[in-house]
Parts: sequence; C-alpha cells; structure tokens
Amino acid sequence: MNSEELKRLVAQAACDEVLKLPAGECLGIGTGSTANWFIDLLAPHQSHFAGVVSSSIASTQRLIQHGFYVLDTNQVSNLPVYVDGADEINPQGHMVKGGGGALTREKIIAAMAKRFICICDASKQVAVLGQFPLPLEIIPLAEAYITRVLTALGGEVRLRMTGTASQPFITDNGGWILDVHGLTITQPEQLEVQINQIPGVVSVGLFAKRKADLLLVGGLTGVVAVAHNR
Ligand code: A5P
Repeated sequence: MNSEELKRLVAQAACDEVLKLPAGECLGIGTGSTANWFIDLLAPHQSHFAGVVSSSIASTQRLIQHGFYVLDTNQVSNLPVYVDGADEINPQGHMVKGGGGALTREKIIAAMAKRFICICDASKQVAVLGQFPLPLEIIPLAEAYITRVLTALGGEVRLRMTGTASQPFITDNGGWILDVHGLTITQPEQLEVQINQIPGVVSVGLFAKRKADLLLVGGLTGVVAVAHNR
C-alpha cells in the first residue's frame, strides 16, 4: 500500500469511529492530506452531525464544497471529538503538528474537544519527537527575538517562506511560522510550556499537554488503534 492508500484507510477508520457518536453532535475536523481524506469519506454522512468546526480556511473550503454545515468555533460549546493528522507522534501520544501552518487553530479546537483522534500512517511514529522541524506561529515583529531564544535552546531556526521563497508564509491568522530544526524533544510537556511563555509566540506545534486520546495508525497490516490515557 502506498502512503495515500494508508491515509485513506485510517480516514475510513476515523469515519467509522465518529459515526458511533449519537446523531446531532458537532465534530472538529483538522487540516492536511489525511484530514482531506477524512472530509471526503465523511461527506456522504454529514447529516449525522449538527455541524462541524474546522482548523483552517483550506479545510473549511473543502467542507463547504461537500455541503457540510461549518460553524464558527464561538458558536460551539460542546465538541465530543476532533479528528486530525500529525507530523510526528511518539509512543506516549505527544505530537508535533503544524506542517501545514494551521497549528494555532488546531490547538484551539483540540483544547475544546473531549477526545482527539489522531489519524496517520506509520511513517509518523517516532521514538523521540524532533526530527520533523517544530513549527511555531509567531507575531512577525518578534521574529528576531524568538529566533535568538530558540537558538539558545539548541534549535536551528528558519522562517517559513512561500513556495516562491520571495516572502514569508502567512498563516490564516496573519502570523508567521518559524520552523525549528535539530531539536531532540525528550520532555515534550516541559518544552511546550517553556516555548508558550516566550513573548511573541502565538502557539507552538507541540501537542503534549493536550495529546492524542486515540491514535489510528495505518500500516502494512491495516489500521491499528492505540489508546492513550491522559
Ligand atoms: C497542519 O498544520 C498539520 O498539523 C497537519 O495536521 C499535519 O501536518 C499532518 O498533515 P498530513 O496529513 O498532510 O501529513
């Protein structure tokens, strides 16, 4: 099976899981290629849900094209489940996310949700986080300051640029992204707290305090479900 087939497989498993919810609930939906499979496969079942909240403009557009009722997060007070991909996940369920730049909205919706279901293929499973560059969404005027702080922590910091590399990538919230290379993240919760306290950081793509409750991982033998206690 190639990587797209694995993403489709875990997305289907996540559909089966969320359709166990009673009808009429809201659902949180993330961003990225695996989340896109989830959106596409869930589309025929959208009437099962009162509405959905989305972690990016790109996902919202895809959801609307399928006819989903997309709610503003401020309209939702009860969110049983959030489904999203990850860039890396360790055996404890801590994740690095934000490869698509949607980390801040992903964090907000993950925090709102009772359960986080992470869907990914087995290539995302790592023993220690950090091989994938850690994304930070920042306020642009703090770029140089935050770069110095993260460099002192041992990271190699790169400002994310657009495809043409002519200007900084701009997030859905108007922020910039710093990708921090070269970290070996042995204590994800502590590092998340530490980076969150740096002035100018909007959010860090470490999902350790709010980790995945259920991992659905696609590999050569099919989908394996791994539950993580908080
Ligand atoms: C988006 O900002 C990310 O957090 C994605 O959830 C993550 O990059 C996974 O994306 P893929 O499913 O495309 O690998």
